This record gives sequence, structure tokens and C-alpha cells, in this order.
Amino acid sequence: MSMRRGSKQALAQHSTLELTTHSAAETQESGERLGRLLQPGHVVALIGELGTGKTCLTQGIARGLGVEGPVTSPTFIMVNEYRTAGGAVLYHIDCYRFQEQGMSEALAIGVDELLGGDGICVVEWAERIEPLLPPDRLTVTLLYVNHTARRLCFEASGERHTALLNSLKVQSLRGSAFGVVSPESKP
Ligand SMILES: Nc1ncnc2c1ncn2[C@@H]1O[C@H](COP(=O)(O)OP(=O)(O)OP(=O)(O)O)[C@@H](O)[C@H]1O
Ligand SMILES: [Mg+2]
Repeated sequence: MSMRRGSKQALAQHSTLELTTHSAAETQESGERLGRLLQPGHVVALIGELGTGKTCLTQGIARGLGVEGPVTSPTFIMVNEYRTAGGAVLYHIDCYRFQEQGMSEALAIGVDELLGGDGICVVEWAERIEPLLPPDRLTVTLLYVNHTARRLCFEASGERHTALLNSLKVQSLRGSAFGVVSPESKP
């Protein structure tokens, strides 16, 4: 995206946050903070290699949304659906099994409709359905640092998700005051 220096409008439509978690529990806590802010129509695209914590983060998101019961990986059935405490629907979508050119598979099960609908969508392996992702979304890239540490890079595009991420930044700063997770500006 090209961004003119000093353009307030461009700044209002793009935001980033990076933090490092040092356990699965911390990754879940980050997800929970995000989940508390999610509203119908929000899309969270998760990108990261096997075992980087995408499902772990999603479990936290579900907890933050007040989903009751266990949240498990939908790798084989591709979409799991949960009712949130606020009466919305959380769609947990896993695109791992869609082939690189498998857009037709995703379309066949209606992923495009879910992404454009009133639910809250969290998508693992989101890069596999890149053309279907709405431009206004929150992308979280998860990187393996070591056995217990993961780097989480949040990037929001579009007005709505930028506002969401800006709210999350405020929450994360509050959390760091209690030593939960530290947002960092350097690796
Ligand atoms: N800081 C951390 N954050 C998240 N997970 C961590 C962390 N440290 C260790 N782990 C471990 O890494 C694993 C993450 O698994 P998870 O299923 O969430 O990954 P995933 O990205 O969803 O993988 P897949 O691509 O197979 O769906 C878990 O076993 C978890 O305990
Ligand atoms: Mg997973």
C-alpha cells in the first residue's frame, strides 16, 4: 500500500503491533484480549507454519468471545462454528487442506460467504485463500522463535480493523503493566 507521509486518512487505515509470547498460555492470553474486542463482520487471517500457535491463539480468541466448551482444530472438517456469549457466531476456518490452487474447494464450502457475512471469522492458513480475503481485515503472522517463544505480528488494513487493532494496542499496554505480555518494537 502506498502511504503519503502525513496523510491522516492512510494512517487511519493501517496499523501494526508486534509482541513475543513465551508460552502457549501467553499466546492464548493475547488471543483472549483480541477476542474481547471482536464484533460481527471482523475477519482475523492467521498466517504461520505448522505448530506456530494459530489454533492456540484461536482458543484464546474464543475464550475472549465467551465461547463455552472446547475449541479444537478444524483441520479435517475445515470449518467449526461456535456461538459467542454475545449471540454472534464464530467461524474457525482451517485452509490447510485447500491446495495452493484450491480456491474452488473453498468456494464449494462457501468460505467466501462466511468471510462476507455477519459472523466473526478466524482463518488458519489464510494465505491459501488470499484472493477471497476481504481487504478490510486483521492479519496475524506467527513466527517460531524457539521451543516456547513465538513472535506475533498483527497488521490491520482498512478502517474497521485498524480501529480494532488500535484498541488492542491499548489493551496490550495495560496487560504489560501486569507483566502478562510485552509489546515490543524490536526483535
Ligand atoms: N509461545 C507459544 N505460543 C503458542 N504455542 C506455543 C508457544 N510455545 C509453545 N507452544 C506450543 O506450540 C504448539 C502450537 O500448536 P498449534 O496447534 O496452536 O499450532 P498451529 O499453528 O495451529 O499448527 P497447525 O498449522 O498444525 O494448525 C502447541 O503445542 C503449544 O503448546
Ligand atoms: Mg492449527
